[in-house]
Amino acid sequence: MDPISDPPFEEAYKILLNKTQNKSNDSHHHDNKLAFVVEECELPMIDLSHLDNNEVMREKCKLEIARASQEWGFFQVINHGIPNDIFSRLKCEQEKVFKLPFDKKTKEDKFLQFSSGSYRWGTPSATCVGQLSWSEAFHIPLKDVLGTTTQSNTLRYTIEQFATIASNLAQTLADILAQQMGHESTFFKENCLPNTCYLRLNRYPPCPIASEIHGLMPHTDSDFLTILYQDQVGGLQLVKDKKWIAVKPNPSALIINIGDLFQAWSNGVYKSVEHRVVTNPRVERFSMAYFLCPSNETVIESCRKPSLYKKFSFEEYRQQVRNDVQNLGSKIGLPRFLLF
Ligand code: OGA
Ligand code: NI
Repeated sequence: MDPISDPPFEEAYKILLNKTQNKSNDSHHHDNKLAFVVEECELPMIDLSHLDNNEVMREKCKLEIARASQEWGFFQVINHGIPNDIFSRLKCEQEKVFKLPFDKKTKEDKFLQFSSGSYRWGTPSATCVGQLSWSEAFHIPLKDVLGTTTQSNTLRYTIEQFATIASNLAQTLADILAQQMGHESTFFKENCLPNTCYLRLNRYPPCPIASEIHGLMPHTDSDFLTILYQDQVGGLQLVKDKKWIAVKPNPSALIINIGDLFQAWSNGVYKSVEHRVVTNPRVERFSMAYFLCPSNETVIESCRKPSLYKKFSFEEYRQQVRNDVQNLGSKIGLPRFLLF
């Protein structure tokens, strides 16, 4: 990778990093706490081809999806119906766009016609080393892309194709999760349209310094559910039974995780679990995430009473997250909306 493409992480993080250096010299504590024995595991694996099978198999598959969402907040799916070829084409476009000079990426709205602020890198609001992220991303509102593209812009064209198919998969999963709570509902079809969703293209450059820096700091996703495609490098970790565990990459599986909005909607039955990415000192890593989001005005209210959370609109939720990130360096999320 041509260095001019990489964001100036070291420069930006110099002050916070120096602070830790001094601290660890003073107190002799280990600075590689992220490398700390993290067990690698296989996420629950769900074969979605069973959804086209007989009723017994279908119901069993739906139950597995609901159970994994309760117990793990994460699972992986195979036979998900998204052709491999779409991922390889999107990955190829993703590599190309991140290879653009850094200056060009920061002006991405002009070059790529995305909303301003789509290109992000690092953690501008970080107040401590644990909040640093050694990564860059295009966080793309799909409304910027859908219905506006011509085949000549291959990035936008591929995103559009992907978004259409991913939307179907996300809807299917959301409907199943609602159904398993006794709600045959049109809520997701009505409120989470292809153009209210987001696609995030992530790149994690090799991080040659200090192993205590995250590729992506610990967080939960602010959506209903996320479909994640990752390459074979590895680095994704999630919290299970209060411990970090590493997800073993599987080339034929997609990772699905529950976001904050589903946790609120299900009144805490489905879990929005904290996850993070650890850096790799030598190899760059790519991933892409599709976020199932409602329109800004959509009100998210628990489907069971008594509800744990105040009802809120998606816009209110996002605003609260933005405020917390700005003021505290990281998001608080759902606990902000607890009723008791
Ligand atoms: C995200 C995310 C994980 C990954 O983009 O929200 O958690 O593996 N990404 O890149
Ligand atoms: Ni995430």
